[in-house]
Amino acid sequence: MTQKFSLNVNGKIHTVDADPDMPLLYALRNDIGLNNPQFGCGLDQCGACTVHIDGQAIRSCSMPISAVGNATVVTLSGLGTPEQPHPLQTAYVEEQVPQCGYCVNGWIMTAAAFLAGKKKPTDAEIKQALKGVKCRCGTHMGILRAVKRAAAMMG
Ligand code: FES
Ligand code: FES
Repeated sequence: MTQKFSLNVNGKIHTVDADPDMPLLYALRNDIGLNNPQFGCGLDQCGACTVHIDGQAIRSCSMPISAVGNATVVTLSGLGTPEQPHPLQTAYVEEQVPQCGYCVNGWIMTAAAFLAGKKKPTDAEIKQALKGVKCRCGTHMGILRAVKRAAAMMG
């Protein structure tokens, strides 16, 4: 049986009619039309579906829509704008990181939550924070450069 859920996503309230167990990812992509969070594994294993929930990096494929409540959801398209990109978005472009691009959402959203709470991280701290995110194209060295560049921009 479906219920109505009000979701605060990127500063706007969206009402979604859904089964309480439906993953938040499906609501974001199919009901709200935000396609930055990707369906990768659907099993909490790759990070492609990551969003911020009250500032924490959360894998939306494994979070039921009924668990979101009044929390604030931010997706990659809410992180920055073309006019005012997040430093990670700028760094990704400057370092020319993506190949196929499928994983980009997961890396940037995970790294953004990490950098929000960590100034001047070491390489080891960055690798530890991002170790659960997958890139099948092997862009890992570029990702590390981009996160370090963004960290320097964020002071
Ligand atoms: S799609 Fe969510 S962790 Fe892989
Ligand atoms: S750029 Fe293709 S999976 Fe990472």
